[in-house]
Amino acid sequence: MSDDLFVAARDAMSRCHAPYSEFPVGAALRADDGNIYTGANVEVASYPEGWCAETTAIGHMIMAGGLEITEVAVIAEKMDACTPCGGCRQRLAEFAGPDTKIHLCDANGIVKTVTLGELLPYAFDADALK
Ligand code: THU
Repeated sequence: MSDDLFVAARDAMSRCHAPYSEFPVGAALRADDGNIYTGANVEVASYPEGWCAETTAIGHMIMAGGLEITEVAVIAEKMDACTPCGGCRQRLAEFAGPDTKIHLCDANGIVKTVTLGELLPYAFDADALK
């Protein structure tokens, strides 16, 4: 059922720009509008200026008018079941809930599914700013 998300993340990974780490990553988000938005990591010669695959995908979703993430898939070429980094967990939490499924993939498909709440317990959220 989530296989389309895995395939989209794997396809996205092939578009990475990761000449420095040589660690390609792909991400795919299913959004409330029914569409899938994808991204790959983009690295920059000034290393801290690069960004993650999940961040690229979020940018695509927002620019297309998607508001809410309902499901996520992440894949890394050189690591089975790569989890989103800490910063990306916070970015995903901006548009997803604690029950949102995060599918961790290898080259053949989804190997483990966790929730965003498991990855980012006690999240800092917008309520703190009220
Ligand atoms: N990376 C991602 O794209 N997503 C993650 O959640 C983990 C790390 C990228 C960033 C960098 O281009 C490379 O992996 C090595 O850290």
